[in-house]
Formats: sequence, C-alpha cells, structure tokens
Amino acid sequence: MARKWWKEAVVYEIYCKSFCDSNGDGIGDLRGVMSKLHVLADLGVNCIWFTPIYASPQIDNGYDVSDYRSIDPAYGTIDDFKELLDMAHGMGIRVIMDMVLNHSSDEHEWFKESRKSKDNPYRNYYIWQPPKPDGSEPNNWGSYFREGNGSAWEFDETTGEYYLHQYSIKMPDLNWEYEPLRKEIYDMLNWWIDLGVDGFRLDVFTRLKKPAGFPDTNKTPDPVLDRNGFIADGSMCTNVEGIHEIIHELYNEVFGPRDCMTVGEGAGVTHENALGYVSRGREELDMVYHFQLSHRRKYSISADHFRTVQKNWSEVIERGGWSVQYLSNHDSARQVSCYGCDSEEHRASSAKLLATLIHTTPGTPFIYQGEEIGMVNVKYDTIEDYNCCYTLGDYNSMIASGVSPKEAIDTLAPRSRDNARTPYQWNSEENAGFTTGKPWIKVNPKYTEINLEKDLATNDSIFAFYRELTKMRRENPAIIDGKLEFLCEESPDVIAYLRECEEQTLLIIANYSKNTVKFNSPEKVALGKWQRILTNKNNTLPSLEKTRSLLPFEVEIYELKK
Ligand code: NOJ
Repeated sequence: MARKWWKEAVVYEIYCKSFCDSNGDGIGDLRGVMSKLHVLADLGVNCIWFTPIYASPQIDNGYDVSDYRSIDPAYGTIDDFKELLDMAHGMGIRVIMDMVLNHSSDEHEWFKESRKSKDNPYRNYYIWQPPKPDGSEPNNWGSYFREGNGSAWEFDETTGEYYLHQYSIKMPDLNWEYEPLRKEIYDMLNWWIDLGVDGFRLDVFTRLKKPAGFPDTNKTPDPVLDRNGFIADGSMCTNVEGIHEIIHELYNEVFGPRDCMTVGEGAGVTHENALGYVSRGREELDMVYHFQLSHRRKYSISADHFRTVQKNWSEVIERGGWSVQYLSNHDSARQVSCYGCDSEEHRASSAKLLATLIHTTPGTPFIYQGEEIGMVNVKYDTIEDYNCCYTLGDYNSMIASGVSPKEAIDTLAPRSRDNARTPYQWNSEENAGFTTGKPWIKVNPKYTEINLEKDLATNDSIFAFYRELTKMRRENPAIIDGKLEFLCEESPDVIAYLRECEEQTLLIIANYSKNTVKFNSPEKVALGKWQRILTNKNNTLPSLEKTRSLLPFEVEIYELKK
C-alpha cells in the first residue's frame, strides 16, 4: 500500500502575522506569504500549516475566531487565500488550516446571540451555568490566561449566568454536547475542504469534552500564579470520558469521507494513550502533536530524555500510530536558545544538530518559521513590549503576589511565546525586511547577524543544512520507515541511533554537548562499512574507527554500504 503523503511530508508552520508584510501596515499577510513561497519550496517544504488566519479581534492572535469562514482583513481576502492555495499546490506544497474548535471569540455572531437570552436558539452553542446560591462562580477552575479575578467563568449581566472560558474571557468555550453546534462545525470544515485545503491542525482537541457536573479541582493552587482560590488545572477538561466519541464523529462526518490529513494538538496525549486517538482502526486522527519531548515550560532536554521519549513514540508508530517531530512552535521559545546553545560559537552547530535529531527520528517533522535560520530568543525590558496572553497574565499574577516588575520579566522572558513571534528576519535592512511600516511586535535586534539573506549567501548555513535534511527525507526510505535502535545508551552526551529498514541502514551520531567527547563504536557499528552522507563539521574526517573524538555539537549521518 502506498504511503500516506503526510508520512513523507516536511511541514512548515507559518505564523502569518510575523512572516512577511506586503503592504506596510506592520502585520504579515497572505500576499507576503505568496511572495516567499519559493523560499519554502527551495527549503524542501511540501506542506504548510497556517496558524489561524480567520477574522478575529486578535486577543490571542487569531485563536479567538469571530468568523470561521473568512480571512482576517489584516491578512487579506478569501480570494487572496484561493490564489495562495493554487500557487502552493502548483509548487507541490499542500496547505493545512488550524482549526480552533474548543472556543470562539466572544465577538462571533454565535456568542453575540447566545448571550442575549436563555431561550435564544444559539444559547446552547456555549457553556452556561447558574451562579452558586451565594452568587459565586460555578466552581474553582482558573483560566489559563488568568485575566480578571482568575476564574475560568465569567458572569454575564444580561441573563445572570456564567459562561466557561478555559482561556481568555473573550474566548468562550463551545458546547460540544449540542448537536446543532457540531453540525455547524462539520459544515464549516467541509466548506474549507471544498475550497481546496488539504487538512487540519486541531487546536487543543483533547479539551473539547468537559466533565459532567463541572466538579471542583483538588489541585493544590500555585502560590504565585493562581489567585483568589481559582486554580488553572489542565487535567479537568483534558481527555475526559466521551472525548473519543466527539473525535470519531468528526472523522465520520468530515475527515474520513474527505480523506483530509489531521494532526491533533494533544495536550495530555502520551505514548500510553495516543493509540486511542491515532491508530487506524480508531478512525479518529492521523497524527498527534504531543508535548512529551518539548513544551512551553521546558528549558532543556537531556540525552536520556530524548532517548526515552523517542523510544516510547517509536513504539506508538510501530503499533500503527503516527506522530509529529518538532522542538518549537508559536507557543514556545526558540529551540536553539533552549535546547541548543545560542552563543556565536555554537549557534549554527547546535541548530543543525537539533534539526538532525528531529528530521531523522520516526514521525513527520514540523519546522517552525525562523528555526531554519537559527532565530534566537529576544528579551524586552518592559511588559508593554510583550503581547503573549500567558506572559501578560502570569506577569499580573506575579505583581499581585508582590514580585518586582524586573524579577517578573526576568522569570517570564525566557519562555514567553513572544520569543517565537518576533518578525521573520529576511535581511539586514530596517525591520529585518519584514515590513516597511512599524512592526506589530518589536523585531529581534539580532537580525543584522541572523537573517535569511545571509544564510542564502553561505554554503554551510543552517538553511542549507535544513535543505539537505529535507532532501534526505525524500531519498532515504529508512528515515520514514526505519526501525529505531539507540546505541551507547549510557552516554550523557552522545545520542547515537540506527534507522533500519529492508532497503537501507542509517546511523546518526550526535554529540549533544559543548565539550569534545569520545565516541566508542559499538560492535554492531565497528563491523560495518559506513559512508558519511551528512555532517555539520565539514572540516572533520569521515571516520568510524573504534574510538574517535566528536567536536562540540558535532552531528553526522552515515549509510551502511552493503
Ligand atoms: C493552543 C495554541 O497553539 C495557542 O497559541 C492558543 O493560545 C491556545 N491553544 C488557545 O487556542
């Protein structure tokens, strides 16, 4: 049976707002993306994932959708989108859309209607609860963005009830118990497929189902972040019994019959429960974007952690599931700053090493815009320069707990989502070539050193290395189908593994440290005849003697010669 296209794909995540601005208003747009598609084709990308570009008040940069069937005017029009789709398809690039189905904006027509009266036909599109007898919130859940008093329930004067919002007050949760809402969503998804999109990334899909009766959480409150007794506890609404019925119905009504690709953003999905969502027989999703390797609050990764997670997930894949390989996205800090080393000496080597690990382990690699040129974290001095809802909410909680503004920023900056959201660095001109106007968020001052133009002018740039990796995926079956076997598992620095399928055996050796280390070839390797096919240190000899040195962040790929 032919492989599904998405197993062979290299997906590139576009955060449109920060990608490329074509009209000088400081906001990236679809025409800007069109003007750069050739760069992505050159990189070897064959699928792009758009974070939400629908009409939105932009409270959470588009994850607050006010109309699921239109493009936000700041990004362009539906005709621009159709043009982009044709252009991308013409270049062999598929397009998947981010679908935010857990909540909408409070400015969506559905919510405007819903809040009007208890008997409005749209009332049950959202989750309403009466106050407790003392007038207080229905339970002690806190919202993730910690606005207002911190509660996940907002009181609405008009009808005297509270509505649920796991995220912002301006992002009410949709009610998946209500059939008319579900039908409306299926129609909308089919409408996008009719338009020509190739698949969907499902935002926080594990949170669509809420627990019956909305019980209190027993989680111990975070002393600094949780306020007024309201506790943000992801586990309350994650993987709740009944979630599979919802996803299976989505499959039956949309994904299955239309054969579109689906990737679920899976907070709370682990190697232990993943097959419930992604094995073929389940008829739910194609692959899951899990947070076990990397996530928003993870500052570093050890060789051991890497091996454990990859082993666990390769078993998921062997048993018929599939998953995503990535280290960063629009919700995280820059991967080279967290998991590599962004000093002048090591930035390029460590960025290439991280990329190799992700592009040669089982699953579909997702590149986040800018990682292919090694973009790094940013640090702003005042909270006014930050935009991310988590950063602002956590900052307010910290200030309310007596933390000083400087200490709050020092704590929050390294993990702020804004690290990933600074404008793409195209060149060393003003505003990094992103806009001729005033960018909506400040450009990272490192742009004169780190930019695409510079990378394109050098043969051994990070961009050129990514290009090699994407090419390798097209040419080496072991990268997609090969069984994963780790070597030297006791090593704290060296990550070494084989990818082996019928046609081919590859060996990947990486020194995941700032020191020069010894690598002792295990017998299985020492006996073979290997040919080096990729390295990030062109000045080293391709040699696999019994014992050899590996330079800081050195990474190599070898192929076994038969
Ligand atoms: C996950 C998205 O990736 C993130 O950016 C957003 O804030 C939340 N879901 C809420 O939609």
